[in-house]
Amino acid sequence: MRAIVCERYGPPEDLVLKELPDPTPGPGTIVVRVRAAAVNFPDVLLIDGKYQLKIPAPFTPGSELAGDVIAAGEGVPFTPGDRVVGTSFVGGFAEQALVPAAAVTPIPEGIDYAAAAGFGITYRTAYHALRSVARISEGDWVVVLGAAGGVGLAAVDLGVAMGAKVLAAAYSPEKLEVCRARGAAATVDYDREDLKTRIREITGDGAVAVLDPVGGSYAEPALRSLARGGRFVTLGYAAGAIPAIPLNLVMLKGITVQGMEIRTFATDHPAENERDLAELHAMFAGGKVSPYIGARFPLEETAAAVRYVADRKAVGKVIIDV
Ligand SMILES: NC(=O)c1ccc[n+]([C@@H]2O[C@H](COP(=O)([O-])OP(=O)(O)OC[C@H]3O[C@@H](n4cnc5c(N)ncnc54)[C@H](OP(=O)(O)O)[C@@H]3O)[C@@H](O)[C@H]2O)c1
Repeated sequence: MRAIVCERYGPPEDLVLKELPDPTPGPGTIVVRVRAAAVNFPDVLLIDGKYQLKIPAPFTPGSELAGDVIAAGEGVPFTPGDRVVGTSFVGGFAEQALVPAAAVTPIPEGIDYAAAAGFGITYRTAYHALRSVARISEGDWVVVLGAAGGVGLAAVDLGVAMGAKVLAAAYSPEKLEVCRARGAAATVDYDREDLKTRIREITGDGAVAVLDPVGGSYAEPALRSLARGGRFVTLGYAAGAIPAIPLNLVMLKGITVQGMEIRTFATDHPAENERDLAELHAMFAGGKVSPYIGARFPLEETAAAVRYVADRKAVGKVIIDV
């Protein structure tokens, strides 16, 4: 089978396409014929050796995949032919992936491989953040930073579905147009407008919550725009710099700053995790929310797909068709 291999940490251009032996399943595992894989920002960091967890090279990157089961080990609830979607940390950018059966779920009827692959990580991240951490209610003003990115557009879609008023902050008129088309009530170009001033003008009393997957210089003005008792959810640092926030701002308005990370959320908060996943699945299977796919690449152009995400070009999800 053909697979993308990261032979040493470095830029996306160092990734190579190789012929590797077909995997065989052991107890509790399955082999999936991958049909679509999604690129996530952590893939960029992982192949560059900059993610918080290091995978020793060589490895096949790709943390999110959808496809057909082609072989099943002992004791798994799947049989060849089943359509499944799952997350695997690595291994998705390949024609075949060996994954624990527990890491995949059936693809809901009527949902195609690309939408299934593009849904999991970003929507789970955004939903836990909105539902369990920011605890937003109908009518709340919610600011989403990096709103046209993967996590960002998922948060816009979900925030709108939950009845919140979403203020989408991103860079460039094209990205903001997509956010409005996805239901954002207002937009701010945070590289051309003063973020804090615009949020205060639009929301009146300030925002109830901020979701921040970007960090850098955007976090502090967004936090300053919060209303009294507002919630700031830190999710990632796509801009590169990890912001340092003056704590007096947090004290003076009784703001809550909280992080959320999907790898640890399920074990730290099992009840909320189960509830959130059930609600999310119902919204997805019922067609109430769906990922926006901004670009698609064939497997042999995976390096270009990862570069596209690294260079801030992605709108919504970038999918690799395998
Ligand atoms: N907490 C969690 O569990 C979790 C889960 C998944 C992802 N994440 C993190 O969330 C962040 C976003 O992930 P994603 O998959 O949504 O990525 P993405 O699709 O690339 O979106 C990131 C957004 O950040 C903005 N950005 C600002 N400066 C940037 C820069 N210098 N380089 C790249 N992007 C920049 C871009 O929007 P503009 O151009 O409009 O500014 C871009 O749309 C990443 O840091 C990722 O590690 C966290």
